[in-house]
Amino acid sequence: MVAGDKPTLGVGMIGYSFMGRAHSQGWRNARSFFDPPALPRLVAIGGRDAAAAQETADRFGWESVETDWRELIARPDVDIVDICTPGDTHAEIAVAALAAGKHVLCEKPLANTVEEAATMAAAATDAARDRGVRSMVGFTYRRVPAIAYARKLVQDGRIGEVRHVRAQYLQDWLVDPEAPLTWRLQKERAGSGALGDIGAHIIDLTQFVTGESVAGVSALTETFVKERPLPGDTARGLSADVSEGRGQVTVDDAAIFVGRLSGGALATFEATRFATGRKNAIRLEVNGSRGSLAFDFEDMNVLWLHDAAVPAVDGGFTRVLVTEPEHPYVAPWWPQGHLLGYEHGFTHQAADFLTAIAEGADPTPSFADGLQVQTVLAAVERSAESGAAWTPVDRSSVEALVSAPTH
Ligand SMILES: NC(=O)c1ccc[n+]([C@@H]2O[C@H](COP(=O)([O-])OP(=O)(O)OC[C@H]3O[C@@H](n4cnc5c(N)ncnc54)[C@H](O)[C@@H]3O)[C@@H](O)[C@H]2O)c1
Repeated sequence: MVAGDKPTLGVGMIGYSFMGRAHSQGWRNARSFFDPPALPRLVAIGGRDAAAAQETADRFGWESVETDWRELIARPDVDIVDICTPGDTHAEIAVAALAAGKHVLCEKPLANTVEEAATMAAAATDAARDRGVRSMVGFTYRRVPAIAYARKLVQDGRIGEVRHVRAQYLQDWLVDPEAPLTWRLQKERAGSGALGDIGAHIIDLTQFVTGESVAGVSALTETFVKERPLPGDTARGLSADVSEGRGQVTVDDAAIFVGRLSGGALATFEATRFATGRKNAIRLEVNGSRGSLAFDFEDMNVLWLHDAAVPAVDGGFTRVLVTEPEHPYVAPWWPQGHLLGYEHGFTHQAADFLTAIAEGADPTPSFADGLQVQTVLAAVERSAESGAAWTPVDRSSVEALVSAPTH
């Protein structure tokens, strides 16, 4: 369909809760603030609970509701399938959508296992090669302006050769041992715990900012609270009511690992839901031969920059407020100093995906990038199982993809 002189792309989104609402906002604002060459139309929202899905549809302006994701994918007015459901559903939905010729935006982590992620990445590669169908995984924090600017500074050589990365993702929403056993605490639904949920983000951010990949790891994981109350009927998202019974937590509560990056840097990673007092502290510090960068999502408009060429008497870290129009993603928003927030990354993600589709380009992070992160998660799990033994990341699934024969 064409609106004015621009084509429109019908979006069908599956899942209407935390990410469903964040993505809804992203699709709505992408056309208001950015100028993508194709415009989104919020065609249908998918959810098994029709009334709850309808409520989100009404709030965010979705035109209709589907209670079976297969029906949503089959609709001719749906061009983009946006997957905002737990990890155990990603592979089946994404592969079916790609087979139906739909562009796919899939939340992170791409899947629950390397095998599932490899299947998805192969389907995405084939679909793009044969039919121009695009796909992207939702590592949204890449699109925080300060993070995108940090990557540019590293690429421009401003901090020289990267020697260290200190990456942390610290939350505390599971400190209460009576917090319910939602899907994020069940291995068969989530794949892993803090590792896949938030550790995946800091693996991606480390690789995105430095341009290097994690080559090997030595890891420890722990489940501090091994049993929790089962969620009640109205359980949704991160918070939920509880029922009478109790069940086993089958994922990690925290994962800590050290790693070597492909360019020779050493990195430390910490992903936990037990960092009391820390709510969404994604902290990244990169030390290079000519300077350093530091970021904390709890102060997300700021990037700290140290230039080692400045004499020590005047040196130190400079506080850069990343709200100038020259900074990535900032110009279409507000005047300088009018801060951006969590939701803006989802608008950037939607605008970038629409632009890539309209221009016939492959968006990033791709499903292959999602698969690569999955191989790092798998190495962390293998290392932790073997008492923190040094474990190289097995790149065979990623390399098989790259060298897959074209037909
Ligand atoms: N990019 C980010 O920063 C970010 C942040 C949070 C979550 N996530 C990812 O987003 C995904 C969803 O997480 P969430 O926090 O929105 O979870 P949530 O529990 O808030 O919502 C999950 C939604 O999926 C629906 N759902 C579950 N199983 C389904 C099925 N079989 N068929 C159809 N719908 C189903 C639920 O009804 C609900 O609407 C996960 O992959 C998660 O890791 C990403």
